[in-house]
Amino acid sequence: MELTLNNGIRMPALGFGVFQTPPDETIHAVQTALDLGYRHIDTAAAYGNEREVGEALRRSGIDREDVFLETKVWISDYGYDQTLHAFDKSVGKLGIDTLDLFILHQALPSRFDLTIGAYKALETLLEDGRVRAIGVSNFMPHHLAALFERTGVVPSVNQIEVHPYFAQRDVQDADAAAGILTQAWSPIGGITAYREGGANALHDPTISAVGASYGKSAAQVMLRWHLQQSRSAIPKSVRPERIRENFDVFDFALTDAELAAIDALDTGIRRGPEPDQITLEAFGREIPDA
Ligand SMILES: NC(=O)c1ccc[n+]([C@@H]2O[C@H](COP(=O)([O-])OP(=O)(O)OC[C@H]3O[C@@H](n4cnc5c(N)ncnc54)[C@H](OP(=O)(O)O)[C@@H]3O)[C@@H](O)[C@H]2O)c1
Repeated sequence: MELTLNNGIRMPALGFGVFQTPPDETIHAVQTALDLGYRHIDTAAAYGNEREVGEALRRSGIDREDVFLETKVWISDYGYDQTLHAFDKSVGKLGIDTLDLFILHQALPSRFDLTIGAYKALETLLEDGRVRAIGVSNFMPHHLAALFERTGVVPSVNQIEVHPYFAQRDVQDADAAAGILTQAWSPIGGITAYREGGANALHDPTISAVGASYGKSAAQVMLRWHLQQSRSAIPKSVRPERIRENFDVFDFALTDAELAAIDALDTGIRRGPEPDQITLEAFGREIPDA
């Protein structure tokens, strides 16, 4: 299943995430995903495993152009020149020439000038054909509005926290109004499991009951919910059986009533960092050159 971005580029809707996947487990995880049919990998400079993602791609033997590679520039590398350099760092580690999707990992509200400079670098890379699409992550509607005022290319993607317990409808609506594809991070509520406190979406009784009627797991139901609502989703796992399970979602469909029942689970409670509180002081860290 593919989605078409606002510049005509096609992207597999279901990708594979590698946040918190240790470098020494990344090659195996990504190779497993590619063997099982995933053709879209989401990494980030800040994850420290771009090199291993690239190595897995090479070892898979799959043609470069058949895999959609997405990575993110970290806030410490914002600013026009710094972000151009960050691109060189990322493609150098990945061992590729052209990136499919390059996105800003966060807005940096306290230094929005640097955020704009970084995005302008993405626009240059797009114009030069070094990236096929550009985008953002964790942008709220007011960040998008501020970006639109000072830049020319509408982002193709906004990657944000979306799972049944935190759907961010306001951001999804702002994305849709601008022609931006919403991509869900923590799509199966991983953050509700690995962050202490609050309920775990993977154990939600409504979601589990829907899954039981199809012989599917809660994770599979959540992934269908995203796909049927035209979002991209990038579940992460290091376990082969779960990597397989998370890709085995194309042989059933949720009804409108089931989609609505999952929509109704939204608590409005964010589990990830508050986007307006991202600062260089609190979150900045050096991304090595190689
Ligand atoms: N832009 C951003 O700021 C941002 C933030 C967070 C994440 N992301 C991206 O989004 C991707 C996914 O988000 P995420 O890793 O936070 O959460 P997720 O994919 O929703 O969930 C991953 C967690 O759930 C477990 N898991 C995976 N499949 C499972 C299954 N079928 N049944 C039960 N548990 C399962 C994983 O553990 P095991 O590995 O042990 O299976 C891991 O702890 C990341 O890898 C990253 O690429 C982006």
